[in-house]
Amino acid sequence: MAIEEEVYSSDDTVVSAQSGGDEAEVFENILRPKDFEHYIGQKEVKNNLKVFVEAAKKRDEVLDHTIFYGPPGLGKTTLSMILATEMGSNLRVTSGPALEKPGDLASILSNLNEGDFLFIDEIHRLRMPVEEVLYTAMEDFAIDIVIGKGPSARTMRINVPKFTLIGATTQIAKISNPLRDRFGHVEKLRYYEKDEVAEIIRRSAEILGVKIEDDARELLAYSCRCTPRIANRLLRRMRDFAEVLYSGDITEVVVKEGLKSLSVDSKGLDFADQEYLKVLCEKFNGGPAGLSTLSAAIGEDESTLEDSIEPFLIREGLLQKTPRGRQATEAAFQHLGLGSHTRLV
Ligand code: ADE
Repeated sequence: MAIEEEVYSSDDTVVSAQSGGDEAEVFENILRPKDFEHYIGQKEVKNNLKVFVEAAKKRDEVLDHTIFYGPPGLGKTTLSMILATEMGSNLRVTSGPALEKPGDLASILSNLNEGDFLFIDEIHRLRMPVEEVLYTAMEDFAIDIVIGKGPSARTMRINVPKFTLIGATTQIAKISNPLRDRFGHVEKLRYYEKDEVAEIIRRSAEILGVKIEDDARELLAYSCRCTPRIANRLLRRMRDFAEVLYSGDITEVVVKEGLKSLSVDSKGLDFADQEYLKVLCEKFNGGPAGLSTLSAAIGEDESTLEDSIEPFLIREGLLQKTPRGRQATEAAFQHLGLGSHTRLV
């Protein structure tokens, strides 16, 4: 199987991409900040990274292996690209599930150039035999290859170029200790503040060449689950509505009507978020309900629920994870207009 892989040069152009790139991906790349100066939010992470980059450069070393964790869409890939750019290196992109066999990873590692960055998305989904190749690669910049089979089999160690591994994950708890211990930097990405998202929308609208009124921007910032990827996606959809149904500028009316058409509610919850809460509140009387039960009832992967839906509901105080399962809060019932909740026992 071909490994899905992209290579970005330090000027952030895709040098080779076997995975093509849909409309969302193309726009995501256009709107990505290319350096720390234009990157909004994640202040502590950014300040730390700037120091680590400067220190590595001063010592003429590669940057230590780094892990970024947190919900999707908060900037793990963007920060990795910025790091590679700052270090004047290339970034190769792959993912845990794409690396099926140790040989897949061995071939990527041996084709790296000195100082390259290797970005492994969903690193918590690496298979163990592949993960084991990473251990020596990260520690000694070498991989052990088994030659032959049976009693005559022997291992041969080959060196790989010095590189920086960037691991990205939505589930840090699923990373094994031996792997986690080999990362020099472990950085958590947090949901953005409303004013940071509003600033990101301002910047993106400027790049896209669309006018957006301040009230419209505020409302969008409030409706994007504090996530830049969602903010930029909604901005593009509002631009569509504005151009086709209105005068071209994004006004508060455009955003209000546009959000309604996209089924995004007053807290920024989309259809999938609302469905999760409705199933939990209506079918399971608010819970507690197990993840696998909810997954079957909703018809959505457990990992999608855990990675993409639950973190924001928890942050908004609409959901709690308890030892007995997922539990909707009183605020969830109120948000859904289901009145005050009396638990059936
Ligand atoms: N676009 C997406 N994420 C961004 C960020 N953190 N800063 C600026 N623009 C962005």
